[in-house]
Amino acid sequence: MSKFMEWVDARFPATKMWEDHLSKYYAPKNFNFFYFFGSLALLVLVNQIVTGIWLTMSFEPSAEGAFASVEYIMRDVEYGWILRYLHSTGASAFFVVVYLHMFRGLLYGSYQKPRELVWIFGMLIYLVLMAEAFMGYLLPWGQMSYWGAQVIISLFGAIPVIGDDLTQWIRGDYLISGITLNRFFALHVIALPIVLLGLVVLHILALHEVGSNNPDGVDIKKHKDENGVPLDGIAFHPYYTVKDIVGVVVFLFVFCFVVFFFPEMGGYFLEKPNFEAANPFKTPEHIAPVWYFTPFYAILRAVPDKLLGVIAMGAAIAVLFVLPWLDRSPVKSMRYKGWMSKIWLVVFCISFVILGVLGVLAPTPGRTLLSQVCTFLYFAYFILMPFYTRMEKTKPVPERVTG
Ligand code: HEM
Repeated sequence: MSKFMEWVDARFPATKMWEDHLSKYYAPKNFNFFYFFGSLALLVLVNQIVTGIWLTMSFEPSAEGAFASVEYIMRDVEYGWILRYLHSTGASAFFVVVYLHMFRGLLYGSYQKPRELVWIFGMLIYLVLMAEAFMGYLLPWGQMSYWGAQVIISLFGAIPVIGDDLTQWIRGDYLISGITLNRFFALHVIALPIVLLGLVVLHILALHEVGSNNPDGVDIKKHKDENGVPLDGIAFHPYYTVKDIVGVVVFLFVFCFVVFFFPEMGGYFLEKPNFEAANPFKTPEHIAPVWYFTPFYAILRAVPDKLLGVIAMGAAIAVLFVLPWLDRSPVKSMRYKGWMSKIWLVVFCISFVILGVLGVLAPTPGRTLLSQVCTFLYFAYFILMPFYTRMEKTKPVPERVTG
């Protein structure tokens, strides 16, 4: 075996890569619950790719055949039902995991120097993930697939001058048709997954270049032993590979419970109108996107003007990219930040959740007002950040991690 590895290592850096990224990658020893979600995101990504490949084997990407082929997968293809539910539940699980993963970043200031690029690659992953989920949702060609895509694509029509041409270019037709379905299929099964995988590699390479942050936000590289190993670091493999298995087992229990007992999740994971084939002549009574888009959909609807609404929605995502430069705090972790940062993070999270709920519901004047207040608070969290992070009194950060 060692002779074989010598032969390989002379031609390819296999052992070096294993050591750099696993057996000699020293991660802080105080990782907590929130540090499970990076490896879980990887797990869900693999699940989506594997189940997606098998779904593609029986799916027919045409306006005439798509809906029926999904029913065929559910009823006639051996284990087709489980492949589909693993994939559809996996899409929602992906966002649950990624939102918690991003929340960890906010909590411990993981986006701060020197991890700005880790965060930016993460944000690009998030953008591509949203595009991937949106295009995947058109494929079953149900009523909500069709009308949801109709609403979102028509938003581009609000852009002055090029709007109408742009929507036509995206659809490839004067209305959403089999042509749109076909191109979304190509993007969903090939183009975007390749981009996503590439970005995940960049994300992890950028992280391993600077090393992981931790719940204390202290730099473990400041204190090293005589061999250059950080005193507060432990080898990723075997310590965190084994610890992550615990997270994987707990996650799979919850995930399988949903897959086997609540795959539709009361209409939140698979919306009810989507059990009816797409009908361009019949608009569903109430069009709402899947839950993970609803906070942004609520921001869109909170603004009375269509173009300004689209701009607000885009800005709500864009502002996250510049987060590393908005936070001026001398400390990273919420543990040592002042009360203003803490209150604003709570306000931000509550507003985001309320917007998510409002985005599912039909608008009423009261709800629109509430969504306007929450949109205001959402942006205030970011816009005021350079001020409150600089003004507030922070607690002293310990030299070494505290656990
Ligand atoms: C497919 C989606 C993603 C995958 C597979 C992924 C994977 C990972 C992994 C394996 C880690 C190291 C383990 C950990 O710290 O939990 C990590 C760290 C990190 N990720 Fe992601 N990630 C994804 C999406 C995102 C997104 C959307 C963001 C934010 C916009 C993000 C921001 C970060 C940050 C800031 C860190 C460093 C955290 C720290 O050291 O405290 N990631 N990611």
